Formats: sequence, C-alpha cells, structure tokens
Amino acid sequence: MSKRSRRKMEHIKYSLLLEKKLKRNVFSDITLLHNCLSEVNLDEIDISTNLQNLRLEKPIIINAITGGFSFALAINRELAKIAREFGLAMAVGSQRIAIKDKSAQASFKVVREENPEGLIFANIGADASLEEVAEVVEMINADAVQIHLNTPQEIVMAEGRKCFAGTVDNIKRIAAGVKVPVIVKEVGFGIAREEARMLVDCGVKIIDVGGAGGTDFIAIENRRNRKNAVTTLEGWGIPTPVSLIEVISEIGDRADIIASGGLKTGLDVAKSLALGAKAAGLAGTVLYKLLKGGPVALRKYLRQVERELRYSMAMVGANNLSELRKRPLIITGKTYKWLKFRGIQ
Ligand code: FNR
Repeated sequence: MSKRSRRKMEHIKYSLLLEKKLKRNVFSDITLLHNCLSEVNLDEIDISTNLQNLRLEKPIIINAITGGFSFALAINRELAKIAREFGLAMAVGSQRIAIKDKSAQASFKVVREENPEGLIFANIGADASLEEVAEVVEMINADAVQIHLNTPQEIVMAEGRKCFAGTVDNIKRIAAGVKVPVIVKEVGFGIAREEARMLVDCGVKIIDVGGAGGTDFIAIENRRNRKNAVTTLEGWGIPTPVSLIEVISEIGDRADIIASGGLKTGLDVAKSLALGAKAAGLAGTVLYKLLKGGPVALRKYLRQVERELRYSMAMVGANNLSELRKRPLIITGKTYKWLKFRGIQ
C-alpha cells in the first residue's frame, strides 16, 4: 500500500473511532418554532432544492469521503449505489491521488459507473491548477467540483502542505475557468463571514461551510502522529450553525450555501435548511453507519434522516424548503452569544 493510501485508510479508521466518542450536538442551541396550525399534507411535502442550476431531488448530499485504493473503491461503490437509490447527490474524496497514480482512478470512476444519471461532485484541494481541476471533473464526468479548504489539517499533518500563499488567486482562477459549478468547501473548521465575502468576490457561487462539530481532522492527525500531537487544538473551528448564520447574513443570495460538519439527524438537516442552507452534507455519520452496520444500516439511517426532515417540516407548517426558510427559529446559548458578539442579527 502506498503512503497516500495508508494515510487515507488511517483517516477512515480514526474518524470512526472519534465519531463514536462525539457527544456534543452543535445544533442543540437552535430550535424550530412549533406551528400548531400547520396545514401541510405530509405526503405532498416537496423537499427538492437547487444549487445554482443543478436540481437536487433531495437536499441531502453524501459528502466527500474517500477514493484511491481498493477498500475505498468498495466504499465508493456502496455509497454510489445508495445515492442512486435514494436520489442523493454524492461527492467523491480528493482525487489528487488519481492524478499522480492512474491506477487509483478506478476507485473514483466506479461512482459514475454505479450511478450514470446521478449528481456527482468531483473533489480536489484549493492548490490545484486549472488543468488538474478539469482532469478530476472529466475523470468521473462530474456535475460540479468541490474545492476543499483544509489548512488546519495540512498544518497538523506531518506530511501536509505548509505553504498557502496564492490560495485566493487560485480559487478566483478556478471559479472563472471551470465549466461545471464550483463548490468551495471547508472540511470541518467552518467559514467566517469575512472569508465568505472574499470567496463570493472571487466568483464562487456555491459554498459548503463545513463547520466544526463533527469530523475533526486535527484530532484525526493527532492520532496518526502521537509524538507531535497538538491536543489543545482539537475542537478548533467555527461550529456549523454559527458558520451558516455568519455566511448567510453576509452574502445573502449572492451564493448558495451548503451546511455540513456534525450533522447527524434529519432534525439537524431541517434546522440547517431553516437557517437558510440550500442543502446539507453528511460525511462522518454516513461512513460510520456503512462500516459499522453495512449497507442495510446505512439505508435505514438515510430513511430515518429523510423521515425526520419531512416530519419537522410538517410540524412547522412548511410545504417546501422556501417555506421552511421563512419559519422563525429560536437561537440560544453559546450560538446566540457568538452571534451577538459578532454583531449579527
Ligand atoms: C473527509 N472529508 C473530505 N473532504 C474533502 O473535501 N476531501 C476529502 O478527501 C475528504 N476526506 C475525508 C475522509 C474522511 C474519512 C472523512 C470522515 C471526511 C471531509 C468531509 O467531506 C466533511 O467536510 C467533514 O467530514 C465534515 O462533515 P462530517 O463528517 O462532520 O459530516
């Protein structure tokens, strides 16, 4: 196994170990206001959404996880089958490995083979050249490409990148030069309003806030490199609901926002959509269900997520996602204090 593949395997292993320990729910400060006069017909609720001109049957995305080696191929095959069955968009993990090593391409291409008509997102880091972005899109005939931001992970990872100058200009180049929609995403540390504005000014039209509260790549890298672990930095980042509110309050409808980072339940998805997200991404939980309980458990979990979303919408009286977005929300605790401190209404 190559060093890169071993690293990816270790990310899977440690994310599973850490997922089990995760106790906090960053969405617990958010409450959807009950509507005692809901006039919704449960079976008629419309949960379709859009990201720019991409239409999503459901607002749930299986977010970027893996690729590049044989176990990753098996994971991607299962995820793609389930994405097709449930009508969910799905992102692959970083395809950087398949640019350098052509034999790694099969583990990504399998996603398109299993789901020829579905919405599939390519994935690569923000240091990629325009040619590399075009190559990863073409590799899987992707409908959009995710450009990931993961500075904390790279810094803490022994073999990670340490120089980040030029990132903003590169994102601008990518946003202007790629044929498919570009989604800039964090991987679990969140996006603040200042940087959201910069991204929009770069021409980015879809942002996945990838906030803190779920998968924590500092904690993962600490376990891969115990000798140089920086445990005090675990938990770093902007919690997902805070990041969502920061970004949406700053950029309004100049871009479509995806909520991800620590989402577990259909209620978390409903809260995210009520806060203004156009869709919600799940990574760690999906991987956890698949590897611990197999495809049967993952299917059961995704059915439950969808059920909770639909029930929540019915209980607030929302027939569709634009009505859900207009419903009042209660924000308390640390989330409320954070927003007040930052002067966000
Ligand atoms: C990830 N994530 C990720 N993101 C990305 O853009 N490219 C990648 O290659 C990976 N790889 C990866 C591996 C593993 C094992 C996990 C669990 C996650 C990050 C992922 O897409 C997401 O942004 C974060 O995990 C936060 O969401 P959750 O896990 O809290 O739902």
